[in-house]
Order: sequence, then C-alpha cells, then structure tokens
Amino acid sequence: MIRILIVDDENSIRLTLSRFLIKEGFSVDIAENAIVGMKMFTEEPYDIVVSDIIMPKMTGIELMEYIRTIDKQCRILIMTGEATVETAARAVSAGANGYLNKPILKDAFLEQIRSNVKAVEANRQKAKEEIQQVQYTGMLESTVAESNETLKRSMASIIHLLSDVTEYRDPYTSGHQRRVGNLAASISRRMNHSKDFYNMVRAIGYIHDIGKIVVPSEILTKPGKINDIEFKLIQMHAQSGCDMLKHVILPKNFATTVGQHHERMDGSGYPNRLKGNEILMEAHILIVADVVETMMTHRPYRAALGVDKALEEISLYRLTKYHPEVVDACIGLFVEEHYSLDDSLSEIHIPL
Ligand SMILES: [Fe+2]
Repeated sequence: MIRILIVDDENSIRLTLSRFLIKEGFSVDIAENAIVGMKMFTEEPYDIVVSDIIMPKMTGIELMEYIRTIDKQCRILIMTGEATVETAARAVSAGANGYLNKPILKDAFLEQIRSNVKAVEANRQKAKEEIQQVQYTGMLESTVAESNETLKRSMASIIHLLSDVTEYRDPYTSGHQRRVGNLAASISRRMNHSKDFYNMVRAIGYIHDIGKIVVPSEILTKPGKINDIEFKLIQMHAQSGCDMLKHVILPKNFATTVGQHHERMDGSGYPNRLKGNEILMEAHILIVADVVETMMTHRPYRAALGVDKALEEISLYRLTKYHPEVVDACIGLFVEEHYSLDDSLSEIHIPL
C-alpha cells in the first residue's frame, strides 16, 4: 500500500486532493501545516508527500529539507499558487520530485501521482533485490566457510588416521611421530614462523614416517644390527611416504617435506642427496626434530641417549648436516625453555 501525506493550510485543497487519491485506492493522511506534517512524517514516513509552499510558521521547502535529512527515497511534490520559474527552481534544488501549479487539475495531479508511485515501486523493488543480494552473499559466505571447516576437519582426521596406521606397524616407536611433530612445531614457533606454518609442520611431523608401511615389520622391529639390504629397505620409507601423499589433497610442500626428512644440508642424506636450499625449510626443521627425538628415546637396538647427546649431535653438525637457524632454535628451546618431549596429539589445524 502506497502512503501519501497532503500538507496544505487550505482545508478545501486538502479535502479535494485526498478525495481524488482515496478514490484511486491510496492510503491518504492530511496535515494542516508543515509543522504537523513534519511530526506525522517523523512518526511514520510516507512514500509520497504533496505539500504547499507558502504556509504560516514553516514553509513547504523547509518541510522538504527536513524530510530529506531522514528519508532520501520519499517522493515530494510541491504545490504553489506563485507559478514562477524561480519558485520551481527553488523547489527542485531543495529536493522536490515534482511541481504542481494551483489551481490543481485532477488529471494532471493524478498523472503526477501515478508516475511517482511507479518510482516508489521501483525503489522498493531495488531495495528488495539489494536485501536478497546481501542475504545471498551472506549465505554463500557461510556455505564456503562451512565447507572450508569441513575440509579442514576431514584433512585433520586423515592425518590422525595415517599417524595411527604407521604406529600400528611400528609399535616400538610409538609416539615418535607425535613427539617429532610437536617438537618441530615448537622449533618453528621459536623461529617466529607464522601460526599456519608451525601448525602445518606439526601435522607433517605426525605422519612423516607414513612410508614405513612399505617396510617389512620384522625389519622395523629388529632388535639387533640391521644389514645393508635391510637399511636400504628402511631408507625407502622417505620416498614412499612422499609418493603416497602427493596424490592426497594436502597443502603445498606437505608431501615434499615428508620425502625430504632424511636429507642433510651437505648432501649426505637420502633419498635424493639434496643440499642446502634444495631442502624446504619445513624439512630442515623436521630433520632436526627427528634426529633429536630419535636420540632422546629408546630404540629396539639401543637405549635412549639423552638430551645432552642429542644437542651435542646437532651442534657438532650445525651448518654441515643441519640448518644453523633450526639448530639454534632447537637448542634454545631445550636450554632456555626447558622443553621436554611431548607425545600428546594436538588438535590439527591445516591451513588451506
Ligand atoms: Fe623417518
């Protein structure tokens, strides 16, 4: 329903115009002066205001200026007996949408009203479409956010599963991957890497030995010394892990880091004898975390060597086998922060 307000100090004009409009099916209110019209508009805005200009206390132009401060969409038609170009120009510059000369002729009046009703309806339609667009965009954004969350959770559950699978295969090193992942994340944090980075390093650590499922379990759990063939088979796990993961939808560098976790800076590692910057920073961190954790814990073929021996090893080969910044961060972690190995399974946050 279109709501129209007629403001005029002449009773006969108010009544005549309102009668025309009511017959056309509009909802019409009348005000005997601009001050009353202003109050009525403030209480409940109208779609169209038809106002006289010259009225006592407050003019139609002042009323229009007031309306424009609270409502830019309202259609305002100005009526006057002084039909001058100047008056019309003043009315339009103050924001009028139409101008009517007195005496008001019914047909011309209704024609003006109808064309302004069309404008009101077009504005309403536009506003409706804008609201729908905002709602649609909001819905789309929340759907994307939900999908991302589901994808992250599903990635995290895959990491947990793969971590468990490796440990079922090699129970003697139970907790090794979690300890390496947590240590690698703490080293990254100490190196001031971003939260996304160290969360990813932690997740990679949790499954870095996934390739061990291709190695016969008798070799993995063999208590004594292993021979060259057995060692070659064990070495395969780095490349196998990378091959397995490269087809899984995981963040960039994930599979590559797993494949590089036994490389060494001087090219003495395996499987590709990579050197220095050929090795990803994620892998440099994992390499140090893996060596330190392995030396600090019990293995089927030897007792735990302890933290001092582990730190001695990485200090001795700082710059040759191990990345110097990673070594410094790792030593700082144990010496200054009194870090102790942690095999708890942290919640996995994988950046997309
Ligand atoms: Fe390994």
